[in-house]
Formats: sequence, C-alpha cells, structure tokens
Amino acid sequence: MEKNCHRRRRLVLLPCPFQGHINAMLQLGTILHARGFSITIVHAEFNSPDPSNHPNFNFLPIPDGLSEADISSGDPVSILWRINANCRSHLRECLSQMMTAPAREGPDDGDIACIIYDEFMYFSEAVANSLKLPSIILTTMSAATFLARTALIQLVADGQLPFQDSVLQDSVPELYPLRYKDLPIPLFGICDTFSKLVLEAYKIRTSSAIIWNTMDCLEPSSLSHIKHQFQVPILPLGPMHKFAPASSSSLWKEDTSCMEWLGKQTKHSVIYVSLGSIASMDEKQLAELAWGLASSQQPFLWVIRPGSVHGSEWIEILPEGFKENIGDRGCIVTWALQKEVLAHSAVGGFLSHCGWNSTLESISEGIPMICRPYFGDQRVNARYVSHVWKVGLELENEMERGEIKRAVRRVMVEKEGEAMRERAKNLKENIELCIKEDGSSNNALNRLVEMIMS
Ligand code: UDX
Repeated sequence: MEKNCHRRRRLVLLPCPFQGHINAMLQLGTILHARGFSITIVHAEFNSPDPSNHPNFNFLPIPDGLSEADISSGDPVSILWRINANCRSHLRECLSQMMTAPAREGPDDGDIACIIYDEFMYFSEAVANSLKLPSIILTTMSAATFLARTALIQLVADGQLPFQDSVLQDSVPELYPLRYKDLPIPLFGICDTFSKLVLEAYKIRTSSAIIWNTMDCLEPSSLSHIKHQFQVPILPLGPMHKFAPASSSSLWKEDTSCMEWLGKQTKHSVIYVSLGSIASMDEKQLAELAWGLASSQQPFLWVIRPGSVHGSEWIEILPEGFKENIGDRGCIVTWALQKEVLAHSAVGGFLSHCGWNSTLESISEGIPMICRPYFGDQRVNARYVSHVWKVGLELENEMERGEIKRAVRRVMVEKEGEAMRERAKNLKENIELCIKEDGSSNNALNRLVEMIMS
C-alpha cells in the first residue's frame, strides 16, 4: 500500500558526466526506484549514459555546450566548470516542462518530489530553488576526501602551493594519516578554475540533505567532523553498489570472456589490475607494469582501457616477448565486469588506481589492494587503504617492474598479505552489517525516503 502511494512520485537525478560519478548516481536511482519512486535522469550530452541499461528510468539529455576542444582537453575540472556555466537555463527549461506537462498515465507522470544532484553539478541547486523544488546533494567520494580537499583549497588560498619537496612527507595537521603529498591535487594540477569549482561545490548549501557513498563503520571520524560542520542531515548510505547490485552503467562495453578465464584459476590466485576510467600511462610505464606482473608468477587479469596508453590504440605496444612469456597466465581485456570480477573466488588482490568506486568495490568483497594512485582523491583513498584500514599497500615511486613484482608477491603469497586479507575480511563483514536491516546505511536510506516523502 505504502509502495503504491509513492510509486508515482518522481525524482530527478543529475549525474556528473564521468564514469565514477555516473555509477554512483545510477545506483542511487536503482535503489530509489526499488523503493517505489519513478526516476528521471537529466544528463549532459557528454559521456551520456546508455538508457538501455536502465529500462525503468526516463533519460533526458540537456545541451552542455562543450566544444570539441573542451572534450579533447580531457581536463575534468574545465569540463565541469563549463557544464555548470552552460547548463543552467537548459535544466530550468527541462524541469519547467516536466512540471507543466499534463499528467499522463505511466510510471513517470508524478510531480517532481525532489532533485538529487552530484555535488559537482551545483548549478542544479539554484535551478531547484528558483522553481521551489526541494534538492538533495549526492557526494560520490569519501568523507576524508571532502576534508582533504577543503584543507587543500585553504592552503592554496594561503599561497602555500606548490609544496616544497621538504614538506611532502610531513603530516597535514588534523588530517592524520594524510601527508602533504596525499592531498587531492587534480589531474592537471592546481589552477584558479579548480579552486573556484571546489569553492562553489563546497560552499554552504541550501539543499535539504547530503547523501554520501560511504559508511559510518568505514569513516567514523571524518563523518562525525562533517556532521558537525553542516546544518543539514548527512546520510552515509554506502556502499551503494551493494544495495543495487544488478545495475550497470558502463560507458564502455564489458568484455565478459574473462569470466570464463577466471573460472579456470585457483582460489585467491589472481591479481586483478585496473586503473579506472581516466588515468593513463606512457609506453615505459606500460612495459614496467607488464614485466612486473609477468615476473610475479601470479595469474593476472588486466584491464587496459582503449586509448589509456599514450600513443597507442590498445595493446599493440606491449613489450616484445611479453605475450609469449605469460601464455595463459594472463588475460587482458578492454573493460571488465569489475564488480563481478572482484566478487569472483579466484581473485585475491586488486592493483588499482584507487578511485573511490573501485576502493569501495574491493573492500566490500574483502580483497586486499595494491594502490597506485594517479591524481585527486585516489591519493587520499590509497593512504586510507594502506594506513587506516591496513588492507593494502601503496606503490609510491615511479612504476618499476621489481617493485611491482615484490608488491604482488607481498599481497598474494606472503604472510603480510595474509594479515591484510584477514583485515579485509573483517572490514567486509562490517560493511555487510551496515547494509542489513537496522544497519547504519540502511537506516540512512530509510531516513532519505522519509525525507523525500515528507
Ligand atoms: C573518477 C576518479 O578518477 C576517481 O578518483 C573518483 O574517485 C571517481 O571519479 P574513475 O577513475 O573512473 O573515477 O574510478 P572509480 O571511482 O574507481 O570508478 C570506476 C568504475 O568503473 C567502477 O565502478 C568500476 O567498477 C567500473 N569499471 C572499471 C568497470 O566496470 N570495468 C572496468 O574494467 C573498470
């Protein structure tokens, strides 16, 4: 009965158009759809999600005004800055039309109950306010990253950047165990646009709540800090992929053939390697990683995203002799079903760039990590994996084959790795408790649904 009464209430969700952010927002959509809401995804044309993966949702693209040059710059900061500048009037028009369209029969005909927007799509808040629609923010990164980014922006404003080499290893006051070198510097370095973007996204907001894809059990002290800082409810309801396991929102086609290869490997023997949707490397780094994996003697499943190695389309510049050397011991794909891979019993470790989704997906399956962060929040996550949860180790130097081989052996076969696996198993169990009935994330989800309904 209760379900029926909110079946037709419509939620409008605005994802930020990058893979890591799209995944979290569409997972949230799946969760809320299961709670009886109808879901409309309003999205930029850039990196637009595939509607066929979500037949229950309504997808509405809005013009984002990005030029070829913006897109080919590959700079997430400038792309987001432009989207926020360009999309406001289009969103307003799109929402106004939805509000005035005559009621139709069907799943999407309800009034708009609320706008839920990624924190980096902050133009949505002003639009929602102007139309007197309630809004809620989704933060797709960790709570620790929020605090670290806030501190970083302050350091920039104080003229402390670039950091001297001599301070890089020092701890940042109040951000233990983060060092200056772990602060979330963006892909193309600090610039004015980055500071302005973060200041806009993080300023005191008028939205009614902030949903966070994290858990109380994972980041208790960062969350408690944040809860004191904001007047509005903070709702940590992660890991969202565990509430919405069936949904996929990949921008690349997944190669499922590796699942068969995984099926032939022994328990916990495979190291899975993936650097997410943005990080890239050069030919030398590729060769070092390749030979490191080969000489570790462990089976590996390696995702090499097309275009992620400078100067090559895919794997044509793998070093000579590499494929012959590894034979069946390695499997290389363009894009994997990562959540399924990490849940497979053959997988025993994850060499990752430590994007927040990858980190959550790994620790939710109790898989220890080898962290090779590239930029931004990945550094914060890597530090938490290695020094707070102690379920992995970090590669801090240039990609070097000997170091990679040693790291794989440490995590996959040595005693140290066994201890990490044990802690990862405990963490997984704690995370499972969060999403159970009466668990903290489940309670936050119930509270969110009540808030929207009221
Ligand atoms: C970006 C930033 O780089 C990251 O630092 C931030 O935390 C989120 O936004 P991305 O680099 O894509 O994200 O990393 P991540 O957050 O790990 O998201 C990647 C997603 O792609 C994961 O959900 C993962 O399951 C999925 N994936 C990755 C696949 O489905 N298949 C693959 O082969 C690789």
